[in-house]
Amino acid sequence: MQTLLVTGGAGFIGCNFVRYLLQKYSDVRVVVYDKLTYAGRLENLADVAEQFAGRYQFVQGDICDAGRVEETIRTHGIDTIVNFAAETHVDRSILDPDAFIQTDVYGTYVLLEAARKLGNLRYHQISTDEVYGHIHGGHRSLESDNVAPRSPYAASKASADHFVSAYHITYGLPVTISRGANNIGPYQYPEKAVPLFVTNALSDLPLPVYGDGRQMRDYQYVTDHCEGIDLVLRNGVIGEVYNIGTGAEMTNLEMVEILLDELGKPRTLIQHVEDRLGHDRRYCMDVSKLMALGWEPDYNHEEAIRATVRWYLENRRWWEPIRNGEFKQYYQKLYGNRKVLAMPPEAEYTNANN
Ligand code: NAD
Ligand code: TYD
Repeated sequence: MQTLLVTGGAGFIGCNFVRYLLQKYSDVRVVVYDKLTYAGRLENLADVAEQFAGRYQFVQGDICDAGRVEETIRTHGIDTIVNFAAETHVDRSILDPDAFIQTDVYGTYVLLEAARKLGNLRYHQISTDEVYGHIHGGHRSLESDNVAPRSPYAASKASADHFVSAYHITYGLPVTISRGANNIGPYQYPEKAVPLFVTNALSDLPLPVYGDGRQMRDYQYVTDHCEGIDLVLRNGVIGEVYNIGTGAEMTNLEMVEILLDELGKPRTLIQHVEDRLGHDRRYCMDVSKLMALGWEPDYNHEEAIRATVRWYLENRRWWEPIRNGEFKQYYQKLYGNRKVLAMPPEAEYTNANN
C-alpha cells in the first residue's frame, strides 16, 4: 500500500487533494503533516477523518522542523511526499515576506533532505504559475521557460522549485513539480480574491478590485487541479515540470461579474481600490504537456466560479467564524486605509447596468 505524506494537507488545495485521493484509491494511506497556521484547519478534514479512519492520520508539525519531519516519515513508513505546505497569499508576502522564506524555501529544503536521507523517497512539489512572472501578449508559459518571479511569494516558490530540481540533478532524487494556475472551490481561506468577493458580497460589503481589474488569471476548479497532480504523481516523467490550468484566461472584472450574477447581487458593489504593489498583469500557461498525459479539466472558468459561489452560499458555518477571527485584523490592515479609485471609464457600464 502506498503511504503518502501530504504536507499542508489541512489547507485549501491539500484537503481537497487528500479527499480526492482517498476516495479514488482504496490502496492508499495518507498522513497529513500540517502546522495549522491561520490557513490550516482540522475541520477541513473532519469528514475525511471519519470516512477513512483506517487510512488517514494527522500529525501537527512544521516542515521546517527536520527532526519531526524525519520521525514522522520513519514512524508511518512514508514512501512518497507531496508538498503543499506553504505561505500562500501574495498580499501577506508584501506585508511581511519572512514566513514565506522560512516555510516555502527552507521548509522545502528540509523535506528534500529528509527524502534523500531516508531512502530517496518519491517527492512531488506543488508550485504555481506565479513563478513565471507576468506574461506579455499572446505568449503562454511553457515548462521550459525561465522563471521570473516578481512578488516575495512567487520568489519563494521559484526558489523552492530550483532546490527541487537541484536535488534531482545532484542526488538523483525522484522528483516532479507541478505549477498550478489560480485555484477556486471549497475551503479556500477568504483572503483570496474569489472567496473574499463572495463573502463580502453576501455581507453587502464593497468588493475591493485592485486597479482597473483588467488583470488576467486562469481560475481553475480545485478538483481539476487535484486530478492533474495525481496524474503527474503517477505518470509524470521524473525530473520534469508540468503546468496545470485550463489554459484559458479571463479578467478579474469578468470573474467578479459572473460571481455577482450567480449571487443575484448588484455590480454597484464593485469598488476599484489602489493596486497591489508589483501586481502581475497576466498569467497564462500552456497546458499541453499535461494534456498529453490524458488530462482535461471538467470545469471551465464560468462553471468553476459558479460552483464556488454555491459552496460558499451553502457553507456559511465554515467561513463566518473565520471572518470573525484573525481575518478581521488582517482585513483592516490591508484594506482599512486603502485608497478608493475613481471608477475607470471603461468600467462605468457595469454600474449603468444595475
Ligand atoms: P493554504 O494557504 O490554503 O494552505 C497552506 C497549508 O500549509 C495550511 O494548512 C497551513 O497550515 C500549512 N502550512 C503553512 N506553513 C506550514 C509549515 N511551516 N509547516 C507545515 N504546514 C504549514 O494554501 P493553498 O491555497 O491550499 O496552497 C497549497 C499549495 O498550492 C501551496 O504550495 C501553494 O503555493 C500552491 N498553489 C496554490 C494555488 C492557489 O490558487 N491557491 C495555485 C497554485 C499553487
Ligand atoms: P489572489 O486570489 O490573491 O491570487 P493571485 O494574486 O495569486 O493571482 O488574486 C487574484 C486576482 O485578484 C489578482 O489579480 C489580484 C486580484 N485581487 C483584487 O483585485 N482584490 C483583492 O482584494 C484580492 C485579494 C485580489
